[in-house]
Amino acid sequence: MDRLENARETVLKASRAYYAHLAYYEDLLAERRAAETKRELDFLEFAFRAHATHRVRDVIDVACGNGRHVLGLAHRGYQCTGQDYTPEQVQIAKARAKREGISVKLLQGDATRLNYENEFDAVLALYILFLLPDDDSVLTCMRQIHRALKPGGIVICNIANPFHKGNDWFSLKTIHQGHYFHETRVPGVRYISIDRVQDFDPLHGIAWWQETHVIQAEDGVHIFRDHERLRLFTYWDILHYLQVAGFKETKCYPDWKTKPPKKPKAETLIFVSRKD
Ligand SMILES: C[S@@+](CC[C@H](N)C(=O)[O-])C[C@H]1O[C@@H](n2cnc3c(N)ncnc32)[C@H](O)[C@@H]1O
Repeated sequence: MDRLENARETVLKASRAYYAHLAYYEDLLAERRAAETKRELDFLEFAFRAHATHRVRDVIDVACGNGRHVLGLAHRGYQCTGQDYTPEQVQIAKARAKREGISVKLLQGDATRLNYENEFDAVLALYILFLLPDDDSVLTCMRQIHRALKPGGIVICNIANPFHKGNDWFSLKTIHQGHYFHETRVPGVRYISIDRVQDFDPLHGIAWWQETHVIQAEDGVHIFRDHERLRLFTYWDILHYLQVAGFKETKCYPDWKTKPPKKPKAETLIFVSRKD
C-alpha cells in the first residue's frame, strides 16, 4: 500500500470509529433533528421536481448515517437505497426502518467505491464531502456519482460554508477563536458538546478538532471524547469538482431555501447538478 493510500485508510478508520461511537447517541437524539430533517426532505423533493428531466423514483444516499433522509423519502413514496461506511450507523438505520415499517435497501459501503451505472434518478451526498480525506477522494466520489445516475438524473450535495457569518462550529470565526460550545435538549435527554480546534491548515482546507460530548439521559450520564479531521470546502471548490466529474450546470441554494443566493454567504450551501 503506498503512503497516500495509507493516509486515506487512517482517516477512514478514525472517521469510522467516531461515527460508530456517535451512532447510539444520534439515535437517542433523532428527535432534535426532526424539524431540520423535514425541511431538508422538502428541499430534496423541490430539487427533484425542479432539476431532474424525468420523475424521480430511485434514490441512493451514499453516506446515509442513521438513514434520516432515505427513510423520510421512502415514507414519501420513493424507492430508496442507503449506504454508509460505518456498520453501526447502518444497523441504526435498519432498526429505524423496521420500527417505522418501511422498506429501504441499507448497505455498508464507501462513498468513494460506488459500483453503479445508470441506475438512479437522484444521488444524495449530504454532510459527507467534508469527511473525505483528500481532493482525489472527492473527485472519485463525484465521478462515480455521475456514472451511477441515469441521464437527466441529479446529484444533491452540500457543504458547511466556512465563510458564513455566524458562530457555528465550522465558521472561520470559531476556528480562530479555537472553541465551540453547544447544548441541545429533547424530552429526557440533554446533550452538550464542547469542541476545540486543535490545528487548522488553510492551504489544504483541513481542520483537526477535539471534542467532548456529554449526554445526560434516563440511563445516566455518558461522556466521551473524540477527535475529527474535517475538510473545509468553499463554493468554488465544489463547482470545480462537479464540473471535472462531468456535470455541466450546477445550481447552488442557501440553507435549504429554494431561491439561489446572491452571494455564497449562507451557513450551508446545497448544490444540485444534472447529468446530461
Ligand atoms: C455527518 S454524518 C451525515 C449522515 C447523513 N448524510 C445525514 O445527513 O444525517 C456523516 C456520515 O458519513 C459516514 N462516512 C464517513 N466516511 C464515509 C465514506 N468514505 N463513505 C461512506 N460513508 C462515510 C459516517 O459514517 C457518517 O454516518
